[in-house]
Amino acid sequence: MSRPIQIVPSILAADYAHLGDEVVAADRAGGDRFHLDVMDGHVVKNLSFGPDTIRAIRPLTQKPFEVHLMVTPACDWIGALKAAGSDRILIHVALEADTAAIMHAIREAGMAAGLVLTPDDPAASVTPYLDLIDYINVLTVTPGFGGQSFLTSMMQKVSTLKTLIGAHAIDLAVDGGVNQATVEVAARAGANIFIAGTGIFATGRTHYAQTINAMRQAAETGRAA
Ligand code: DX5
Ligand code: ZN
Repeated sequence: MSRPIQIVPSILAADYAHLGDEVVAADRAGGDRFHLDVMDGHVVKNLSFGPDTIRAIRPLTQKPFEVHLMVTPACDWIGALKAAGSDRILIHVALEADTAAIMHAIREAGMAAGLVLTPDDPAASVTPYLDLIDYINVLTVTPGFGGQSFLTSMMQKVSTLKTLIGAHAIDLAVDGGVNQATVEVAARAGANIFIAGTGIFATGRTHYAQTINAMRQAAETGRAA
């Protein structure tokens, strides 16, 4: 059975001067959950926000919060991210010495755990963890910054992952350069979760609903192809 299609706003591209309004608008526009890129300036060459920001926006929406954690060591942040209101933590598959231990720690803290593949990580890198995760995020840009172009070359990896996932209850996401034009090819390759920063927030607050609807339609079209 195919997994539900979800459109996930990534607040990295939101207007930080009005972050609360942005979250409310993306929620009302039909975003299915929120993607929160937490960066420490070392794993990737950028800084974003941390648990305090997550805690501040948590009361503004009932939708789940997924943290894309680009901070080491990940284990130091699991408790704080849970306390701030995170529902799921995603970590890069090749970043830590003991990925399985971190997946277990995230689950023991009462959250869901997922893995992220950078463009350099092969599909098979997730194989040892398929029983520990419910989410795989394929980066379709070099991590760290919004507004880059979607790497269509990652679609072969998405297809391979779809096969690897098989009957496991695991969502398959694409993240980076996702917009109305690129959703379709990703859905055709097998993705069911579409994470978009610039693709949603750069369209202007009055257009978020229209944009999210168009992305959802493009995903249905791609899946049916
Ligand atoms: C990049 C992040 C993405 C980022 C995507 O490191 O993982 O979540 O927000 O931004 P856009 O959608 O603008 O490419
Ligand atoms: Zn991300």
